Amino acid sequence: MKSKTVKGNWSLRTKKFGSSSVLFICIISFLSGFFGSSLFSNKPQNWQDVEFGLRPRLRFVESRNEATAYNLLSAGESGDDSITLIPFQILSWKPRALYFPKFASSEQCESIIDIAKVDLQPSILALREGETKENTEGVRTSSGMFISASEDTTGILDVIEEKIARATMIPRVHGEAFNILCYEVGQRYISHYDAFNPAEYGPQKSQRVASFLLYLSDVEEGGETMFPFENGLNMDGTYGYEDCIGLKVKPRQGDGLLFYSLFHNGTIDPTSLHGSCPVIKGVKWVATKWIRDQEQDE
Ligand SMILES: *[C@@H]1O[C@H](CO)[C@@H](O)[C@H](O)[C@H]1NC(C)=O
Repeated sequence: MKSKTVKGNWSLRTKKFGSSSVLFICIISFLSGFFGSSLFSNKPQNWQDVEFGLRPRLRFVESRNEATAYNLLSAGESGDDSITLIPFQILSWKPRALYFPKFASSEQCESIIDIAKVDLQPSILALREGETKENTEGVRTSSGMFISASEDTTGILDVIEEKIARATMIPRVHGEAFNILCYEVGQRYISHYDAFNPAEYGPQKSQRVASFLLYLSDVEEGGETMFPFENGLNMDGTYGYEDCIGLKVKPRQGDGLLFYSLFHNGTIDPTSLHGSCPVIKGVKWVATKWIRDQEQDE
């Protein structure tokens, strides 16, 4: 199986050689196939077993019938023999923003809130030149905490993270730890970019490509994620950064929002500017996963 390429190379050469060489080559080819496959047999049957810490391979559609209905192909070694169904709505192309209704269950959301509750700290801001803690007061007033999927003993964040990797086709190793945020009445995050503009923040070792927000609670009023520059709107220089305008996404428990901060050429999409409108009634809980262009070594 794994000797396919080896055999290919050898058989090309045999044309030039005599029959004894052919025999010799056959033996070598057999041996290399033999050693090749024993080498590869050290590899676990399912690489996913390793990645998920020997947990059973995740499946998003259990039923064989569904696989038959879609008439699936046989997948590559790193692929799936099941189908993944993650419904989404395109909210915008500028920026590229996708909405994933019912991405997580309410039980999953409540558990994540319970984990985060005990550890909340006031959220901090990455500062630009000239900015201080004092003169940026009020820009980001939520509280939050960071937790990686591996630190979560319930395994819920592991499942969520895997699902995000599937939705984005960006491997999990590109994600920062989850940032679980809580916004109470009046709390907000004025408009900003998740990507770091090197002109403002200095050279970056890695850049945030995309952001995935999982809303963990319903919010009675306010707390929308807003994209004031959606489709080029409000970009005439008059936008006030605190105004809650443009495309607004209402938080609903279990729903996901994905948007891309970078174009495919790696430059920052100016329409990916976004913010969190102040909560008017209720509490907003959200789990954020920032996804980078480089693998993260956590
Ligand atoms: C990068 O891509 C965007 C979107 O296609 C385009 O508007 C922009 O001019 C490109 N920038 C560079 C430096 O290539």
